[in-house]
Amino acid sequence: MDYRKLLSLAEEAKERSYSPYSGFRVGAAILTTDGKVITGANVESATYGATICAERAAVVRAVSEGHRDFEAIAVASDAKEGSFPCGICRQFLAEFGIGIKVITGKAEGEIQVNTVADLLPFAFTGKELPGREKE
Ligand code: THU
Repeated sequence: MDYRKLLSLAEEAKERSYSPYSGFRVGAAILTTDGKVITGANVESATYGATICAERAAVVRAVSEGHRDFEAIAVASDAKEGSFPCGICRQFLAEFGIGIKVITGKAEGEIQVNTVADLLPFAFTGKELPGREKE
């Protein structure tokens, strides 16, 4: 799928954001390697800390529906030129592959394509853990 189209689906998902505290809407659209798109939006909590970002919402939905292989994720936000995933989301995405492409920007403007590895250098991937060195 065209990454500009994926970003436009993230922009649509942003409309479903639940963000009464920050007023900052974020949407994400994750593309599986078999061509399916699953979206997510940020869901805030009155406790603030329990807030779920759009990127993690999309990943959790996708994994819960049986998908684990991802090609790309597009992120749309209310920021004028779009914005990048937060640190927690970068780590959460790395769980499923540091090669996943992260598409940011605006569907009708400039877009950027970076891998999770670009955004999370020297990533802790879990292969450092005892018994997992071969992965
Ligand atoms: N947010 C996301 O959904 N994704 C990010 O990568 C950055 C931050 C949300 C969390 C919170 O609801 C709002 O944006 C302001 O931080």
